[in-house]
Amino acid sequence: MTIWTPRLADKGPRYRALAEAIEAAIADGELAAGTRLPPQRRLADALSVTVGTVTRAYALVEQKGLVEARVGSGTYVREAASEASPFVPSAGSSLEEDTIDLALSLPPPSPRRQAALASALGAIAGDGAALDRAVNYPLGGAPAPHRNIYARWLARLGLPVEADELLIDQGGMNGISLALGALLSPGERLAAEALSYPGLISAARERDLRTVALPFDDDGIDVETLAARFDRQPFRALYLMPDHHNPTTARLCESRREALVALARQRDFWLIEDGVMLLPQEERGTPLYRLAPERTLFLFSVAKILGGGLRAGVMRAPPALHERLAAVQRHQVWAPPALTALAVDHWLASGAADELLDWQFEELAARESIVREQLGDFDIRLRRGGFYVWLTLPGEMRAAPLIEHLARRGVRVTPGEAFCVGSTAAPQAIRLCFSAAGSREQLAHALEIVREALSRPAPALWQTL
Ligand SMILES: Cc1ncc(COP(=O)(O)O)c(C=O)c1O
Repeated sequence: MTIWTPRLADKGPRYRALAEAIEAAIADGELAAGTRLPPQRRLADALSVTVGTVTRAYALVEQKGLVEARVGSGTYVREAASEASPFVPSAGSSLEEDTIDLALSLPPPSPRRQAALASALGAIAGDGAALDRAVNYPLGGAPAPHRNIYARWLARLGLPVEADELLIDQGGMNGISLALGALLSPGERLAAEALSYPGLISAARERDLRTVALPFDDDGIDVETLAARFDRQPFRALYLMPDHHNPTTARLCESRREALVALARQRDFWLIEDGVMLLPQEERGTPLYRLAPERTLFLFSVAKILGGGLRAGVMRAPPALHERLAAVQRHQVWAPPALTALAVDHWLASGAADELLDWQFEELAARESIVREQLGDFDIRLRRGGFYVWLTLPGEMRAAPLIEHLARRGVRVTPGEAFCVGSTAAPQAIRLCFSAAGSREQLAHALEIVREALSRPAPALWQTL
């Protein structure tokens, strides 16, 4: 049987060249998650190197977290993110009453939401036609007035859309599922930033898609690399968060937006633009759906403004795709709940949603100052109006023991590993959702604990394990 035999670069030590070849093959998907690397002696013979060279190369790749050695069985390409959902505390882990949860991306809490919902429900209760709509099967898609209200609100937020381009759905996760269902068949390739929203990762896995992990920096995806990757591994769609990348807060710069759109047209792939995390308009770039309306699906949700419990959102899609999206929606849920749509209408049309958003941006600005005060000495990234800070750990500090240490001190945060697409190596970084803390005081307290942990010399942290 032939074994995987890479071509090694001519330069540098052999073990390093082999490690690089393995790393490249994993990044390209040539060595998929779960693949066993060739037995060391056989690979050494095939490459005409010593077994020691192969051992050193495997050790180097293992150190990077890309492969794992299983005793008595061999070395395997690692599954990047664990199957466990990063959204909820894992089964068996007890969330103490006084735990401060900075892991979930929740809007800052406010009694305004409950008050606005009570007012919306009161208005619905007194309106016979609305009650009829709420109890009867919705036929023929979302009613035009509902889409008009959304379109007017989105225009006020700086997101101009035509009402008939909108498909009402149940929020960001549902929008992802509809988009993947309409655009990709199992086994097809979906590209995404090498770190991405965990909901996208699990939805792709659920649908048996192959993922292509793309390198990116503070200005977003590097479009030249993207073109080269497409030519080697053509994909049907690219999912990305151009304005506020989750988790790193990177923003795709304008020149790359234009280059990306030109490439998507030339190579013919779809763009799934996730705009769920809405920043103030000055913090955003030109929406991709404005640049390439014919091939961009724009996902939006009210979860990060009105509240995640509503499970309500909207997708802007090219009209040519609507029938396919609606067909996927019909077999999933028939239609989104009419009662929620009625409440959202009230919220958007009454101006309550705009007031809430203004308040939210002010509250987030105050919280941002607390973050800068507590963590300003560390390598942090955050954006005005965003919910979270991405913190790269100092020195040799590793995320796993830090997270355990913080959990014991009552602070929950998310490890960089939760965002790894495909076999992307886990970054030694954590995401802290400063929006989620119950109050500013609670936030300051939690961040003091984080700062204290980060300031300890690393060995002291290991000793607490
Ligand atoms: C980037 C991104 N997309 C989508 C979602 C899911 O949104 P929803 O709660 O509306 O399903 C989230 C939620 O955290 C998100 O951060």
